[in-house]
Amino acid sequence: MDIKKPKLFTNADLPHLRQSPQVRAYFDVLKSRDVILEVKDVGKKFDSRQGNTEALRNISFQTHQREFLCVVGPSGSGKSTLVRIVAGLEEETSGEILLEGKPVTGPGRDRGMVFQAYTLFPWLTVKKNVMFGLEINGMGRRKAEAQALRWLHLVGLDKFVDAYPHQLSGGMKQRVAIVRALANQPQMLLMDEPFGALDAQTRARMQAHLMEIWQAIDITVLFITHDLDEAIYLADRILVLSAHPGEVMELIEVPVPRPRSPSQFISEEFLATKMRLEELIYQSVYDEEIDELPIGELGATLSRDDS
Ligand SMILES: Nc1ncnc2c1ncn2[C@@H]1O[C@H](COP(=O)(O)OP(=O)(O)OP(=O)(O)O)[C@@H](O)[C@H]1O
Ligand SMILES: [Mg+2]
Repeated sequence: MDIKKPKLFTNADLPHLRQSPQVRAYFDVLKSRDVILEVKDVGKKFDSRQGNTEALRNISFQTHQREFLCVVGPSGSGKSTLVRIVAGLEEETSGEILLEGKPVTGPGRDRGMVFQAYTLFPWLTVKKNVMFGLEINGMGRRKAEAQALRWLHLVGLDKFVDAYPHQLSGGMKQRVAIVRALANQPQMLLMDEPFGALDAQTRARMQAHLMEIWQAIDITVLFITHDLDEAIYLADRILVLSAHPGEVMELIEVPVPRPRSPSQFISEEFLATKMRLEELIYQSVYDEEIDELPIGELGATLSRDDS
């Protein structure tokens, strides 16, 4: 069976690579900052009763201080695995991860993590949820309470400090989760589809909120999403992973100037970036499906049926 491969753009025709002088200057500054996270040739294989899965292969990239890096890729491309390895919740099979030059060997206070599923303690109030991590790390109760209240004020949750998680909307729960991750003042905020379960309006509000927080404090963000608009809206750079096993396809510098606003969703730079991302992801899923299609068997079946 002859299935034609879709063609990628040629290098001469990649409009998302055209950067305005303002954007180019922004990236010059960004890339001159210290490297916070260095992922070096990381591979991950899972061995289970169902068989072996290669989730990640040869992943290498760096994030600089205060960078907002998004990772996109098809389902199963290893995005969650990657962020869990950076968080120290999972161990790489090969390669290594350095945080400020030191190998990551497990979870640590220098990284705060926010998951898609709500992970607040249901038996603790909002304030106590935030205080919990601070106290575990040795902060006295009064200081922890003052810190928690300050952070909750920053995300507009003053009125809910004594509420329990079940009394909050999804967006509020995630705001608490973000605050809880930030309260320990980590170097990096790791987020795995944190807004994936929210409706479109709440999601948009949360994105704007996160950008405000990111601009207000010195934090480097690694943000996983499969929503391309979200990635372009938030990111400085976008790491694109291929389908199974996840390999780096491209690291794209988002040419949309900051400060970002929703009106940019239809700007030339935004659409050019989206087109490139869609093309890469389509290409990668298409390659994987063609590899997996039992075309020989299919052909045999068809010809039997025809006869
Ligand atoms: N603990 C595990 N044991 C065995 N296989 C696993 C485990 N965790 C992940 N995998 C496999 O690794 C691959 C990558 O999974 P992962 O969850 O990282 O992908 P993802 O890109 O986050 O997908 P999604 O977009 O659906 O969240 C998948 O094939 C998955 O089945
Ligand atoms: Mg995932």
